[in-house]
Amino acid sequence: MIYYLLYYGVESFKFEQKDFEELLVQARERNEGLGITGKLIYCEGTFIQVLEGNEYSVKEVYQSIEKDSRLIATKIVAEGLVGERYFKDWSMDFNQISLNSINELENCNHPNVGEYISNAPAVKLLKLLNAK
Ligand SMILES: Cc1cc2nc3c(=O)[nH]c(=O)nc-3n(C[C@H](O)[C@H](O)[C@H](O)COP(=O)(O)O)c2cc1C
Repeated sequence: MIYYLLYYGVESFKFEQKDFEELLVQARERNEGLGITGKLIYCEGTFIQVLEGNEYSVKEVYQSIEKDSRLIATKIVAEGLVGERYFKDWSMDFNQISLNSINELENCNHPNVGEYISNAPAVKLLKLLNAK
């Protein structure tokens, strides 16, 4: 079984490109060493992240993240065990999405948009939560 933890956190300063790059290099290196995969999404100052791996390693990394001064606060949304990894190929996948793009999609009637939304990262995260 694979342990996963989903949390969100709020940035303590306005992240710029170099801050994301620095964060991802650091996170991917440590995750690779610990066998942790997952997904990090950033939207308008808030991060949402899934970490998956063995329970001990995931909790250890989350403890570092909780203490990280780049975040004001973090809150666990869900955690538990799943049959297999959901994000197999990444030490930490990353996407930035804008609030505008979410709002536009919500208000759009185009027939293909439904398909796009059902494959959107946030919806995949929800599927992950329901996959227990
Ligand atoms: C939004 C955010 C996501 C992070 N994700 C990870 C991650 O997936 N893996 C990781 O090792 N560190 C991640 N970090 C960095 C950790 O907070 C921490 O700086 C790093 O793991 C080094 O830990 P240490 O200071 O306890 O040695 C993240 C930090 C932030 C702000």
